[in-house]
Amino acid sequence: MSERTPSAASPPASAPPQGAWSGRFTEAVADLVRRYTASVDFDRRLAQADIAGSRAHARMLGQQGIIGARDLADIERGLDAIAADVEAGRFEWRRDLEDVHFNIERRLTEAVGDAGKRLHTGRSRNDQVATDVRLWLRASIDALLAQLAALRHAFCDLAERHAGTIMPGFTHLQVAQPVTFGHHLMAYDAMLARDMERLADVRKRVNRLPLGAAALAGTGFPIDRERTRAELGFDALCPNSLDAVSDRDFAIEFAAAASLVMVHLSRFAEELVLWSSPRFGFVTLADRFCTGSSIMPQKKNPDVPELVRGKSGRVVGHLVALLVLMKAQPLAYNKDNQEDKEPLFDTVDTLGDTLAIMTDLVATGIVADEARMREAAREGFATATDLADHLVRRGVPFRDAHEAVARAVRHAESRRCGLEDLSVDELRAFAPQVGDDVAGVLSLEGSVASRSHPGGTAPPAVRAAIAAARASLPPREP
Ligand code: ARG
Repeated sequence: MSERTPSAASPPASAPPQGAWSGRFTEAVADLVRRYTASVDFDRRLAQADIAGSRAHARMLGQQGIIGARDLADIERGLDAIAADVEAGRFEWRRDLEDVHFNIERRLTEAVGDAGKRLHTGRSRNDQVATDVRLWLRASIDALLAQLAALRHAFCDLAERHAGTIMPGFTHLQVAQPVTFGHHLMAYDAMLARDMERLADVRKRVNRLPLGAAALAGTGFPIDRERTRAELGFDALCPNSLDAVSDRDFAIEFAAAASLVMVHLSRFAEELVLWSSPRFGFVTLADRFCTGSSIMPQKKNPDVPELVRGKSGRVVGHLVALLVLMKAQPLAYNKDNQEDKEPLFDTVDTLGDTLAIMTDLVATGIVADEARMREAAREGFATATDLADHLVRRGVPFRDAHEAVARAVRHAESRRCGLEDLSVDELRAFAPQVGDDVAGVLSLEGSVASRSHPGGTAPPAVRAAIAAARASLPPREP
């Protein structure tokens, strides 16, 4: 009868080889793996958020008696120095230390010794990075909201100058009915107002604290999450530790809201491209927003609007990247999530730059050719609907009025003139009910003035919309 006994191997006496990840490993991390897995080249942007999170975590550990007062003081002193170094661009980032978290923790330990090694008690890089991203994104959203408000002020100002400027309104890019340029511009204000609402709503779900979740299961130390939450200005705690470290839905929502802003701006950009082409000639863009051609000396190209249009594709791409990144990830944290940062950072950067340049363009770079706009509305029979409505008021059923005016348009077209150039008698050949006051009906000014209800294109309605928009906005930056 033989007894099976565990082999009594002695613990390895040797230290792990140089470059191994830790004492658990028997060989060094391969160079390519080190480069492939390192994130410090981009996640160092989170440094100040990481330090703020560490400071709050350390204070909570101190208050709970999990670390001593001396250790806390050392940690705070060390973090202050690191924050100053990062701020001044003096901090030496090491790719072999993988990410922003390890870089800062190592530096802290070099500076203050064992206290630095105690900072990570009751915490994991998993809840740490989720906290950092949320802090960083919260500040980014606040900055973007201020930029959106500035752009809306610029739209309101331009719209006010053009509350009475007449242009053709289009459907199917065919002249439809006259509108005021101010009304057209305020359509973009309405889109941007919803964009601001959306971002403010996303912010609520960004602003929740993951710390305390540790790696995934929470921690056995007597932590006080509520204290950390209050110190970092979060509205609430992430309620489940597995969810706290793993989901990035808040970043996806943000990317969706940002994509919508970019899509809205791409629509305006497209209109500027069309309007500034000589075929339209509705607007001139200031030279500082345009470039020339290397071969065609006459060219002046609307590069800024074209790039706004193009960069919208890039932001929508980031949204899709984040969605696919999250799809089918099992609980809880997976290293896939490290890939959330570059799309997120680039979304914030691209949107911020786009808002800044569009604000400058709308505020100072667009000159409208009012005569060209008016002429385009006149040429396109834009008041044909007004004539039909006039007949309806005089008892003609709308379908019959529509047909009578359609024939009058064909007649005017063959005569190469507008409806307003036909005499009352000529018009009566199509509909005897045409009134003596038809000239006012066919005038562009009469048409827009008649649409004076809230949301309409009449100059007073446009001015009311501008006043309402301004009242809803924070005061403009000095
Ligand atoms: N750099 C990592 C990230 O961005 C930090 C978290 C790593 N956690 C881990 N268990 N490997 O997600």
